[in-house]
Amino acid sequence: MPLISKITPATIKEAATALARGDLVAFPTETVYGLGADAKNEIAVKKIYEAKGRPADHPLIVHISNLRLISEWTRQLPDYANKLAIAFWPGPMTLILPRTQLAGDFITGGQDSVGIRIPNQKNALSLLEKFEKHGGLGVAAPSANRFGKVSPTTAAAVEEELGAYLSLNDKILDGGLCNVGLESTIIDCTSQSPMILRPGAITQSMIFETTNMNPVTEITSNLKAPGLLTSHYAPNAQVVLDQNPQPGDGFIALKNIKTPPGVHRLASPRNNCEFARVLYESLRYGDRLRLKTIHVEIPLGDDIAEAIKDRLIKSSNRSSN
Ligand code: TXA
Ligand code: MG
Repeated sequence: MPLISKITPATIKEAATALARGDLVAFPTETVYGLGADAKNEIAVKKIYEAKGRPADHPLIVHISNLRLISEWTRQLPDYANKLAIAFWPGPMTLILPRTQLAGDFITGGQDSVGIRIPNQKNALSLLEKFEKHGGLGVAAPSANRFGKVSPTTAAAVEEELGAYLSLNDKILDGGLCNVGLESTIIDCTSQSPMILRPGAITQSMIFETTNMNPVTEITSNLKAPGLLTSHYAPNAQVVLDQNPQPGDGFIALKNIKTPPGVHRLASPRNNCEFARVLYESLRYGDRLRLKTIHVEIPLGDDIAEAIKDRLIKSSNRSSN
């Protein structure tokens, strides 16, 4: 089992060397922790799929430190995608773009497109930069959880999810709690206009304001994306979406909503951003308490509340898994 390392210049340097050697490094981003491997190294990337228990045809996001590297991975950046990249990178946004040959089938699940993101987290960016000094061109990284489970937002949660599946040469970097707490907005940029495949902190109205195009949101494509399956992001407890927990149940809701007697209050965030930041840790806390049921009252709004709603509907959807 790999040890968790506190982030220092020395541990970032070691982690970059580990990536260059073909080992795995779990690292913090502003959204959730990623499980990284050299995106050019097929054997290293295979280790990600094994550790996650993820089907081989589900594509990975390539993380880069700088827009200059984008032409390594995509052969075409539509004008509206360029506007999005300039406005929101580094940030919680992934663009799906036509791939170059460098983006092998082992990254894209055999699709002709590739997901790319520049994360907005200083440790993630220094890791990527150090790795690029070793000749790296990008780090493939899915969320650092077992397939279908809740994404980790702390290093301890990465260890809980994947510790048993990583080797001694792999590393987990500890950068504290992720600031956003939910996975990036995924925008398919392979057609005439943007299509949101997964809502996140970059919202529909932000995309409209930047591109002057109304993004399509319904999922009409048949792209292989685990986040698009009906049951995903699921804790062990059954998630129920209402504000009627019974004694013994867990409960997550905005601070102004009262806790009924005998209920375990797992989180009382003050606003929607804080809700997103603490949601996954609160679900894990409920699992640690071995609760059978966690009730969540979804906050309202057209901001990150849309992403909260998306994840919670998927995590509550057990029957179809
Ligand atoms: O915030 C995030 O995006 C985090 C951090 C670590 O960057 N990463 C993340 O990766 O959530 P993952 O693999 O857990 O979710 C990425 C989603 C998956 O549903 C994947 O199928 C989809 O992006 N995806 C990746 N490449 C794609 C492509 N070429 N076409 C369609 N979907 C793609
Ligand atoms: Mg994931």
